[in-house]
Amino acid sequence: MAFKINKNRSWPRAIIDFIDSYFNNCCIHGFRYLVQTILILLERILWLILLILSIYYCIIVCLASIDRYYTKSTHIGLERNYHFWNTSVPSLTVCPMQRINDTYFADFCRKNSIKGSQKNIFWDFIENLANSTYINFQNIPESDEIDSLIKDLDLEPERYMELIYNLTFDSTYEPIEKQRTRCIDGQVNIHVRQVLTEYGLCYMGNSMLGKEYSSRYFIFGQYPEPNKYETMRKLIQYQKGSYFEKDVGHTLLGFTSEAIDSFIHSVYEVMKVDNNFGYSTEGVVYDPVTEEITAEDNIEKEATVGMRKCRFYHESNLTHFPFYTRNVCQQECRINLAYKICKCIPHFYPNRISRPKKVCDYKTLRSCFPKHANFFLKLYEENKNHENPSTCYCEQNCVDAVVTTRSALPMIGSRQLLGSIGSSVSIKTWPQSRLKRQVIFSFTDLLVSIGGTAGLFLGFSVLGLVELLYFFTIRLIWQIFGYTI
Ligand SMILES: *[C@@H]1O[C@H](CO)[C@@H](O)[C@H](O)[C@H]1NC(C)=O
Ligand SMILES: *[C@@H]1O[C@H](CO)[C@@H](O)[C@H](O)[C@H]1NC(C)=O
Ligand SMILES: *[C@@H]1O[C@H](CO)[C@@H](O)[C@H](O)[C@H]1NC(C)=O
Ligand SMILES: *[C@@H]1O[C@H](CO)[C@@H](O)[C@H](O)[C@H]1NC(C)=O
Ligand SMILES: *[C@@H]1O[C@H](CO)[C@@H](O)[C@H](O)[C@H]1NC(C)=O
Repeated sequence: MAFKINKNRSWPRAIIDFIDSYFNNCCIHGFRYLVQTILILLERILWLILLILSIYYCIIVCLASIDRYYTKSTHIGLERNYHFWNTSVPSLTVCPMQRINDTYFADFCRKNSIKGSQKNIFWDFIENLANSTYINFQNIPESDEIDSLIKDLDLEPERYMELIYNLTFDSTYEPIEKQRTRCIDGQVNIHVRQVLTEYGLCYMGNSMLGKEYSSRYFIFGQYPEPNKYETMRKLIQYQKGSYFEKDVGHTLLGFTSEAIDSFIHSVYEVMKVDNNFGYSTEGVVYDPVTEEITAEDNIEKEATVGMRKCRFYHESNLTHFPFYTRNVCQQECRINLAYKICKCIPHFYPNRISRPKKVCDYKTLRSCFPKHANFFLKLYEENKNHENPSTCYCEQNCVDAVVTTRSALPMIGSRQLLGSIGSSVSIKTWPQSRLKRQVIFSFTDLLVSIGGTAGLFLGFSVLGLVELLYFFTIRLIWQIFGYTI
């Protein structure tokens, strides 16, 4: 087939003619007046200005719709039909204030031939290390004997936590029921696990978090072993109650140590180390009120994390943690801050990542951390001692509960009554409103909005778009081969 280009016409001329024919036929109103030679120049200029204005406003309004889709497509609404909800009962984390098990410690000393006064020095060291957090790093003892002990044991800072774990007895596996750490509500068992927190090894009951949040998973990457004692009775993962139930609650007990520290938090969260009740030789009875924030089912698919400004549990983008909650994200901020300021991280953080961060030896914990303790805990500066105030942004949990305690009283006489100490939660009033994350401007809405705008300003439509494509592909080819339609 030979090219049938009209020899009288040059290439540019052909292109202009082709565009001309598109303008004459196309769907956008107004275009054809630009190329109709009968009209006088003034009229054509008028149409040109109108067209440019229309296209300009069309683009402006479309951009506004797109912006709305990306930044304001979800909102938080209020629900009031409280008769129909199940509300979760807050969760408890309890840390015993005596950490190391003397039987395990004696075994360890026998195997490594640590004797006499050395044994006491080592006990003091490891007990304080296990009990350390941002507020008490300065209590870790420091001496030449400890240095030489650590050298003999070849104890790298990376293995501090492993050793503490090995020397701690997980009391949820205690065979004697009275001494077992357990969470109960009458005859029902609620699942309890040993967890690794910023305050060492603690116990958490009544939680919605997955099995990844456990000491064994954080330190060794293995899920905890099933606990046969828990399943001897009816076992639930967490408690919930509805408006008509009175006095729903649970007790986390079975601590034989002299004192405990308790934390209350929502079932969707982990404890916050600076939100504690404090050292107490009795347990605590909490009377909390909670307000839940739920999410519509479709929000996860219809909106990205940036659009809904919240993250679900399984949408972690954290480095050290395999799941996401807001408090865990703040722990990661603390990790990064500690790493920036002290050049290493405390031993109580999970560090099973592809490039593990350096773990602080006990001397650095003593020397560097106490100076900056407030900065690390609050993550912001009051009197700007540090040049770069920390910038750490943590998204909210998509599904969460805000727990406020109305009262937290010592549980007097629990040791005599129950044979051990522990804390309890008891809900007296249920919330009468809750928040719900909803999608109010979905992708379909965006399409309709853009289509409507283009239709309003230009009379443009999907078929018009197809026509445009058709004109500049198939029809162009025909034109090149010299066929005119
Ligand atoms: C609330 O919990 C009860 C008992 O667990 C269950 O039967 C009911 O379906 C739940 N209601 C809602 C709305 O989830
Ligand atoms: C130490 O561990 C043993 C089990 O090996 C347990 O029977 C004992 O009660 C523990 N001691 C303390 C103080 O928890
Ligand atoms: C553990 O730390 C807390 C808080 O600093 C302190 O009150 C408690 O005495 C410590 N426990 C031991 C056994 O030193
Ligand atoms: C902890 O115990 C495990 C298994 O018993 C052992 O392999 C590991 O070496 C111990 N770690 C330390 C620091 O003693
Ligand atoms: C996780 O995402 C948030 C924003 O969604 C971002 O600010 C943060 O830096 C991310 N964290 C990591 C470790 O990538």
